[in-house]
Amino acid sequence: MKIENIVTPALIVQKSIFESNAEQMSALLAGGSLKLRPHYKSHKCAAIAHQQIQSGAVGITCAKLEEALDLADSGIEDILIANQITDASKISRLAHLANACRLTVCVDNGENVAELEKAAASAGSTIYCLVEYEIGMERCGVSGKEAVLSLAQQIERCPHLVFDGIQAYAGHISHTVSVEEREQETNKNKEKIQELLRYLQENHIFPRVLSGGSTGTSVIKAKESLYTELQAGSYLFMDATYRALGLPFQSSLFLLCTVVSVNDTVVVVDAGVKSCGVDQGMPVPYGFSVSKIVASEEHFQLHSPSKKFHVGEKVLLIPAHCCSTVNLHDRIYLVDGDRVVDRFLITARGAFH
Ligand SMILES: Cc1ncc(COP(=O)(O)O)c(C=O)c1O
Repeated sequence: MKIENIVTPALIVQKSIFESNAEQMSALLAGGSLKLRPHYKSHKCAAIAHQQIQSGAVGITCAKLEEALDLADSGIEDILIANQITDASKISRLAHLANACRLTVCVDNGENVAELEKAAASAGSTIYCLVEYEIGMERCGVSGKEAVLSLAQQIERCPHLVFDGIQAYAGHISHTVSVEEREQETNKNKEKIQELLRYLQENHIFPRVLSGGSTGTSVIKAKESLYTELQAGSYLFMDATYRALGLPFQSSLFLLCTVVSVNDTVVVVDAGVKSCGVDQGMPVPYGFSVSKIVASEEHFQLHSPSKKFHVGEKVLLIPAHCCSTVNLHDRIYLVDGDRVVDRFLITARGAFH
């Protein structure tokens, strides 16, 4: 099938760029101590997760219990939920899932640790835990090293939990456009984390894992030899927001649309916010420029495009945010040039529980 036969709006991935991004990441981490544990939220396709494991990833990171269930169901054996699971019914499901795979979850609260232990005891499973350390994002995690120590000691006292290490994720730095600023901020965090690790050691707590990092900090993290796991997700697709950072990855993910209406200054396509995440901005046209884009549910109005279009013509847009865009689709077409060569089902689409 040719690209022009795909019913639009649809997500397509250019095979050669997609594969080259995966190779770039492998090359970046080759020979170092930092291992890839890619984030599932960016593609949510079990088939891609398996490709990542085959290329050397030590496991998969995800954000949600339902994503972990999807990954385990597909046969992924080492899963990190880089998030806190605090709802009683979810804790129970998590404890049972821990019988089916090596399951790690983040914690930042003593009561939550106690509940995880109780559920794991009842399910007869072992849950691995990372204590989340807050390093500036002000999302989850505990701020002081004393609080990390106290949680780690509590976990070590629990027969059905294993203290496996620390998660320290600086999401507020990921998209900083200036390399210097990104490096400076990462270095500040490095000192803070080194101090934490020294403090834990002095208190006989030895984290095996230090997990975090993103596509935006991948190059810096590969050089700094502190983290043991890199949770990058977007590197395979490189949305328009990440493209601005000049990283060694190229955009492989496009939203294929069809022109539905043309007037003097505006070209309208059959995709809008119901098929393209705009939480990080408007998509960027591929191969031409526009003066602005106006979005509605099922339309993007492309103002003053730099080339002429006719009704029925295909248009490619690069989504500003791949993760929120992927979650709106059932499948991603893998294309080689202008031919469809495969299709990835987005098996964890809408898995937000
Ligand atoms: C916990 C966690 N780790 C890693 C990432 C990095 O993902 P990306 O490489 O797509 O920026 C994110 C992004 O939201 C995240 O929330």
